[in-house]
Amino acid sequence: MTKVYAVRVHKPGGPEQLRYEPVELGEPGRGEVRVRHTVIGLNFTDIHFRTGRYPLSSLPHVIGMEAAGVIEAVGDSVTAFRVGDRVAYAAETPRAYAQATVMPVTRLIKLPDFIDDEAAAATLLKGLTAQYLIRSAYTIKQGETILVQAAAGGVGLIICQWARHLGVRVIGTASTPEKAALARANGCDHPIIYTREDVVARVRELTGGRGLPVVYDGVGGSTYETSLQCLKRRGLAVFYGSAGGVIPPFDLWRLNRMGSLYVTYAGLADYVYDHAEMDARAAELFSMMKSGVVKVPIHKRYPLADAAQAHADLESRRTSGASLLIP
Ligand SMILES: NC(=O)c1ccc[n+]([C@@H]2O[C@H](COP(=O)([O-])OP(=O)(O)OC[C@H]3O[C@@H](n4cnc5c(N)ncnc54)[C@H](OP(=O)(O)O)[C@@H]3O)[C@@H](O)[C@H]2O)c1
Repeated sequence: MTKVYAVRVHKPGGPEQLRYEPVELGEPGRGEVRVRHTVIGLNFTDIHFRTGRYPLSSLPHVIGMEAAGVIEAVGDSVTAFRVGDRVAYAAETPRAYAQATVMPVTRLIKLPDFIDDEAAAATLLKGLTAQYLIRSAYTIKQGETILVQAAAGGVGLIICQWARHLGVRVIGTASTPEKAALARANGCDHPIIYTREDVVARVRELTGGRGLPVVYDGVGGSTYETSLQCLKRRGLAVFYGSAGGVIPPFDLWRLNRMGSLYVTYAGLADYVYDHAEMDARAAELFSMMKSGVVKVPIHKRYPLADAAQAHADLESRRTSGASLLIP
């Protein structure tokens, strides 16, 4: 047994439900390793696990989906990883808000020398998400125009950077002039401050009235209607999150009336369903990081013990890009 400090949820609720406390870690079993974390990534998904929107298998439970670190123990039948390897992960189940974790190797990625631990923890989960959204859920193409909701957010900024690199014109939404400026600096050609401007009208104006082939929407409840209205005939709405609330059930017949639209609600787990697929997506992401196309600005570093403050900041939209927890 190894004792580490971790942040656990004891019952679903607000940031005050996060407790920094000692927990016991077992030894790694078959196919598992123990990873000593150096940096932990903060994600909006962590808030969904804290509030109970996403269920935890038991309580109390450590939350957090993303971290970088070093392997310090290896279980039976693990051949691809060794003690001392620098690794990062976008986990299947919550575990990252801790000084160390014991986990299966299925979601583990070896880090190349050119990616430091902070860049890995800030980028892996959000970057794999951006990768599958723009390369698989809908493959964006040079010359197209797309809309990214919450363009200054964690996933949003990476989509802007990568899309610009591919010769795609990006329209993005943000709540404040500061976030709009950050989105612009990261590849968003036309930031729309949605608190002041009519997003649908502006998108129609920017597309000569036609609308868009695709919209990426991780905000959900407060934006899905706008996203649908920005599409052109037979356009696709790619929903992938609910930072702004849950999308209510709606009548599919509306998709017909709005121009035979398509809709998907995508999840990372279905796009990295085996190690080969995850390695391929991570390799493409890392090559974008190496060439400087994808570079996530670090908004703030918090001590792991201050995870509750980090959640409060992310929830109240005070953040942009990525924030990190330091164990
Ligand atoms: N399906 C997947 O594979 C996948 C993977 C990663 C993340 N996600 C999901 O994608 C969403 C975005 O994740 P992220 O980590 O990139 O977050 P984020 O964009 O860094 O933060 C959320 C942003 O959403 C906007 N927002 C709009 N309404 C909001 C509200 N009521 N409360 C808080 N924020 C609101 C804010 O931007 P403005 O201030 O500009 O409005 C805020 O900065 C989350 O729901 C997350 O769970 C899904």
